[in-house]
Amino acid sequence: MAYDVPNEYCFLSMTRSGKPTPERPLAVLVTGTSTGIGRGIALTLAQQGYTVIAGVRQTAHGAALVHDFKKNDASMSQGTVVRSGGQICPVILDLASEATIAEGWERVNAQLQALDAPLVGLVNNAGNATLRVAEWLSVSDWQTALWTNFLGAVELTRLALPQLRASHGRLVNIGSIAAWMTPPCYASYSASKAAVGAWSRALRSELLPFGVAVAVVEPGVIVTPGPARSLKEMMDHHHQRQQEIQENATPGDPHAVYSYTTESVRAMFDFGADGGVSVGHVVDMVEHALQSPTPRSKYYVGLDARFLAASFTILGEPVLDWLALQFLKVLSL
Ligand SMILES: NC(=O)c1ccc[n+]([C@@H]2O[C@H](COP(=O)([O-])OP(=O)(O)OC[C@H]3O[C@@H](n4cnc5c(N)ncnc54)[C@H](OP(=O)(O)O)[C@@H]3O)[C@@H](O)[C@H]2O)c1
Repeated sequence: MAYDVPNEYCFLSMTRSGKPTPERPLAVLVTGTSTGIGRGIALTLAQQGYTVIAGVRQTAHGAALVHDFKKNDASMSQGTVVRSGGQICPVILDLASEATIAEGWERVNAQLQALDAPLVGLVNNAGNATLRVAEWLSVSDWQTALWTNFLGAVELTRLALPQLRASHGRLVNIGSIAAWMTPPCYASYSASKAAVGAWSRALRSELLPFGVAVAVVEPGVIVTPGPARSLKEMMDHHHQRQQEIQENATPGDPHAVYSYTTESVRAMFDFGADGGVSVGHVVDMVEHALQSPTPRSKYYVGLDARFLAASFTILGEPVLDWLALQFLKVLSL
């Protein structure tokens, strides 16, 4: 039986592209804008004239973002100060649960109505890596990772889709190269980012007929406060567990302290510490995904991300796992 494509379907040829103008203000919602990549995306888009609804978890972070934007949003042209016309409107938006997302979405909607600018983009950026040996990850750790990195984006997107469909807007999900390659202690983070990739693939084909483009940006190591914080938290947790295990030593399971594993991850961070690229590289890809008439479905950021994705495809998982183990052994010598 053949189905007709309904008239309202427009496919990507009709998708919106281009930047906002004073006559055509456009709104973009970005999550996790207090620091790092999200902050870079919010500031750059506002400097390009977008009305950025900036998701934060603390009022002070929103105020700091607005302050930084106003401070830098002025350039000189022929002796006069020129401003971008963009703005940053912070909203409290915590992706921790369905309830906090519903509350946050009400605030986003109220802002959008007050501003009278169509929502033409959603950038699901917020994320957090709880690095732990898989055996030590509690159900609550898994829930935190999945809500922050994946389910929060799923639920927020579900709420935003009617507006994105109406505007033929764009959806940009920040994944990670960790979706392809899972080092020790990355179980929950990699699983959540792999889920982002799979969900984005499904959405891409489902939303194509509505002229809504979906892209995943998969960065390698980017210089932000996130990785160092995750490492410190992992080491603290490891020492705490180590102590607990030694106090309640389980006969016959002397290896449960996982010192080698945690140390090799620490060594991997030390090795990569100088290799990350700046936030600007991710921002460039997000801009392309939001504005280009021919957006890509996948953007890798950094040589490490390209190399790992290519290696995964060419060498296959068993060879890569073996190589990763040798690499970690050498690093932790
Ligand atoms: N840096 C890298 O090397 C790298 C590589 C690949 C992918 N990524 C991805 O890029 C994205 C941004 O990472 P980043 O490096 O910029 O990290 P970051 O500096 O730590 O920023 C993370 C942002 O997410 C927010 N956030 C955390 N939990 C949240 C929650 N429950 N609800 C709402 N917001 C929440 C944080 O807000 P608070 O300040 O309130 O905690 C912060 O604004 C993440 O998705 C990350 O997985 C990063």
